[in-house]
Amino acid sequence: MRNFSPLDKFLCEAQYCLDTLSQRNIGTRKNPAIHAENTELNPEQKRQSQGFMRVNHTGEICAQALYRGQAFGTQNSHLKAHFNTAAMEELDHLNWCQERLNELDSHSSYLNPFWYIASFLIGISAARLGDDLSLGFVEETEKQVIKHLSHHQQTLASNDQKSRAIITVMTEDEARHADNAHHSGAKELPRALKFIMQLQSKVMTTTAYYL
Ligand SMILES: [Fe+2]
Ligand SMILES: [Fe+2]
Repeated sequence: MRNFSPLDKFLCEAQYCLDTLSQRNIGTRKNPAIHAENTELNPEQKRQSQGFMRVNHTGEICAQALYRGQAFGTQNSHLKAHFNTAAMEELDHLNWCQERLNELDSHSSYLNPFWYIASFLIGISAARLGDDLSLGFVEETEKQVIKHLSHHQQTLASNDQKSRAIITVMTEDEARHADNAHHSGAKELPRALKFIMQLQSKVMTTTAYYL
């Protein structure tokens, strides 16, 4: 098997980053909102749905970058493959959120390049903590994402069936991802680290809602 140099690996990651940010990476599953009713939203409902789907899209940009960073940072080839496969699976979520944003006549966050790079570096740092804590990081991240998604489910306009259909499947998938990480040997993170992750997530969700 060919051995990649550090420069090869860096260029590969840079390409993946560009492809992700420009929505060129293709997922495998159909959008779960295909058969949901496309109802008219009033301006306030539409603004809220745009904000929520932009936050979810940025969350998926972060998921891509975290998984790629964790794969990049680990020496464990099994775990590296696990994280890269997980990133591929998350592509569906990224694409569904982008499709919904398009339908809502809106755009993804202007800050996505920043969030990708920051999350990639966080992913590498998580990998350096060791395999069990790196998996613990995945479990905690997915749990925090599920909390956001549940909040969106409860707050979203009741007639926005399309966004709801996407968020429902995303919530189920993220729960499975958290479960997988747990059963792969995830170690619970220290409380201080969880708190820092919550703070970072608060900054991301607040800025992505508007920008
Ligand atoms: Fe996701
Ligand atoms: Fe996930």
